[in-house]
Amino acid sequence: KYLQENELSQECKEVISSLPVEQGWVASHLCQYQGFWHSTRQMQGVLACQKHFQAHDTDIILVTTPKSGTTWLKALTFALLNRNKYQDLQTHPLLTSSPHVLVPFLELDLYLDKEENPLPDFTSFPSPRLFSTHLPYVSLPKSMKESTCKLVYLCRDPKDTFVSLWHFTNRLRLKNMGTNSLEDSFEKFCRGVSLYGPFWDHVLGYWKQNLENPEKIMFLRYEELKADPALVLKELASFIGSPFSKEEEANGLVDDILKLCSFDNLSNLEVNKNGKLLSGEENRAFFRRGEVGDWKNYLTLEMIEQLNAIVKEKLEVHGLKF
Ligand code: A3P
Repeated sequence: KYLQENELSQECKEVISSLPVEQGWVASHLCQYQGFWHSTRQMQGVLACQKHFQAHDTDIILVTTPKSGTTWLKALTFALLNRNKYQDLQTHPLLTSSPHVLVPFLELDLYLDKEENPLPDFTSFPSPRLFSTHLPYVSLPKSMKESTCKLVYLCRDPKDTFVSLWHFTNRLRLKNMGTNSLEDSFEKFCRGVSLYGPFWDHVLGYWKQNLENPEKIMFLRYEELKADPALVLKELASFIGSPFSKEEEANGLVDDILKLCSFDNLSNLEVNKNGKLLSGEENRAFFRRGEVGDWKNYLTLEMIEQLNAIVKEKLEVHGLKF
């Protein structure tokens, strides 16, 4: 069952009533919790996940800013982790299930889309468990920070992230709501008012943690994945503790996984063309162009300068360039 905004728990409503609220661009409202903007509906999942999720030392958590390539990272990591279980790529689960079903979001799926019982049943998750989240570092459940579980963080150039998010929100909006204007959405994004925004604070939180503890947090960018996916996949395999053997590499397994998870392959599968998630989102909304630099086709010179200036002020001072 998909939880509706008017079905939130009393506890959640009370928390929200004390938070700053803004009109959103996908969801009708966003509220600012622990410094980051969430749709009021997802707040229930955020609070439940923070309160109840118990990380295992062996867990692998994929953390991303929305529209940074989450779907791709989910597919790659799922294929990587299960490469012995699903050796026959002709019958691989990724051919018939969305990556978002195979690697659920903690706060958006497991702790949210629930019937009466708000707590998920984890018994069917084999070890090492693979989950995902968009939560900022400050809002992660305590056990995730304290256990030795691994976090793989993925972000993307904010200009492409914005353009991708703008398209995505317009795809998800109900027809009678009309489309979000690029200008209004941009103004909100620059003020930090976007799903899990401010974008820069999200990225910075994980960037700093990665510098302090690179064994626990891997920091990736969509652009490096696009530039050399084989290299990143091998690094990812080593990071999660299951590096490719010489034999696997010689057998072409790295390329096989990349092909299986490629934009062209995934986006042309029946499940990703016509399937829907439990939340009602169409799977195809997660596959648009999959290119670096599409912002050039949408942003004005003024917008580019404005966003570049924010990145310079907020991120470059910390050694993080896009
Ligand atoms: P664009 O809108 O720029 O095309 P997320 O998965 O975090 O929601 O991000 C979606 C973005 O990743 C979209 O970017 C989408 O096209 C791109 N994407 C999805 N699957 C991909 C894949 N297998 N390879 C490369 N990019 C992919």
